[in-house]
Amino acid sequence: MQLAAVSLSDGPLACDWLIVPIIENAEYDRTIAAVDQALEGRLARLREAGDLTGGHAEMAELRELGDHPTRRVLLVGLGEAAKLTAPRYENALMTAIRRISAKAVPHAAILLPQLPDSAVPEALAARIAAMSLLVGSTGQGLYKSKPDRFPFERGSVVAAGGTVSPDTVGAVEEGRILGESVNLTRELVNRQPNDIFPEAFADRASQLSREHGLDCDIFDERRLAEERMGALLAVGRGSVKPSRMVVLTHRGGAASGPVLALAGKGVTFDSGGLSLKPNDGMKAMKCDMAGGATVLGAMIAIARLKLPVNVMGLIGLVENMPSGSAFKLGDVLTARNGVTIEVMNTDAEGRLVLADVLSYAVDQKVSKIVDLATLTGACVVALGEEVAGGFTNHQDWYNKVASAAQTAGEDLWQMPMFDFYADQLKCDVADVKNVGTRWGGAITAAKFLEKFVADTPWVHLDIAGPAFMESSKPHREGGATGAYTRTLVELARSFE
Ligand code: BES
Ligand code: MN
Ligand code: ZN
Repeated sequence: MQLAAVSLSDGPLACDWLIVPIIENAEYDRTIAAVDQALEGRLARLREAGDLTGGHAEMAELRELGDHPTRRVLLVGLGEAAKLTAPRYENALMTAIRRISAKAVPHAAILLPQLPDSAVPEALAARIAAMSLLVGSTGQGLYKSKPDRFPFERGSVVAAGGTVSPDTVGAVEEGRILGESVNLTRELVNRQPNDIFPEAFADRASQLSREHGLDCDIFDERRLAEERMGALLAVGRGSVKPSRMVVLTHRGGAASGPVLALAGKGVTFDSGGLSLKPNDGMKAMKCDMAGGATVLGAMIAIARLKLPVNVMGLIGLVENMPSGSAFKLGDVLTARNGVTIEVMNTDAEGRLVLADVLSYAVDQKVSKIVDLATLTGACVVALGEEVAGGFTNHQDWYNKVASAAQTAGEDLWQMPMFDFYADQLKCDVADVKNVGTRWGGAITAAKFLEKFVADTPWVHLDIAGPAFMESSKPHREGGATGAYTRTLVELARSFE
């Protein structure tokens, strides 16, 4: 998609759809008044007829505008100005964009609202508009012979005043980079597991790294064995697809400066292994590499934005399958840091993969770690589909991550890490078991991971709910969401 910031100073915009956000119970601002004038008072008449209230995500269409260069207008309500937040603004725009992108639209434009004293100043509004044009018009129907969602060829973000400020131009460019990264994460997750297996994911990471100036190191099974990553290798052993680890490096900060590590679970398909999942539980398990895809998407954005920080992205890639060579219940694995693990359930595989990836990060002497994983169904039971669980060994670091999520407009909820939860992992034959009891499963999984981060400040995000949605809603497509890609970029931006 070609994206640009434009102004209306040279007259009405030639486009197929113009999206005009409307504040509830407010006078039209200067720009909307100008649009109304160009449309010969049609907006005013709609409002008088009660068809344009400005209620949140309520919409009204104007078509058949004669030879007016703006061929159609979609008015969308933002709700009352006092209640407006960036996520509510984004939700309304996404609803409008999804409404018009169900058909092929060559050129869509969004008029920026003039809300100088609100929670959504112009630069933020421009960034969200650009990002939404990309994300909202891209669907999950990657394999449909007749598409039902059509990415715009051109997108315009229309500045409210007469001129386009450099801030708005920069914000549109940032929105484009973020939107393309969110869509990359979504695409990788939405692809069938037959297309995205460890080597294929690693190839994609290496090609993208070359394009965008990241260092990319790919560990094959021999290298993984040399690095003593016995837990990760055990999970992949049942598959005909060999395992990999991808290490991405962005060196934007001082050579001796701190390093932020982003680690992702990349189980390209989780059948459960010998502890095989039932059919319903397995249907969406192509999504089990979402943590890894989020790390890759964020690393690409961090590189393109040239953020002045050092960031290392680590992605553990395996396929979890049952077979004659699969790892077994009762097997005792030795993780990279020497901890021995008795396998009591091969479906608790994500923590085994991350155990070695986290130990590797610690050995690289990174300063801070965040990991993302579709780790437990228990976390979805606890918090629902829309919110990630957050876990930490270091409250100050958690607060930084939480504030990045808030700035990015993504929801996060902290879970407890009391020591007694780890009692469930006590084991008679090895140092730990890989599963606890039925209760508190998201937390015992986090307590397991904690054993592999040593003293490094660490936050674990369990994204099993928000990474992948069963069904679509007016404001977002079902399937992969790309959730927390933006949080990671925001975290890198504020990292010091
Ligand atoms: N990948 C799953 C978790 C998952 C569930 C992700 C639902 C997305 C949606 C993970 O590997 C898993 O199977 N976890 C088990 C852990 C259990 C065996 C302790 C689970 O949640 O049932
Ligand atoms: Mn599993
Ligand atoms: Zn899994």
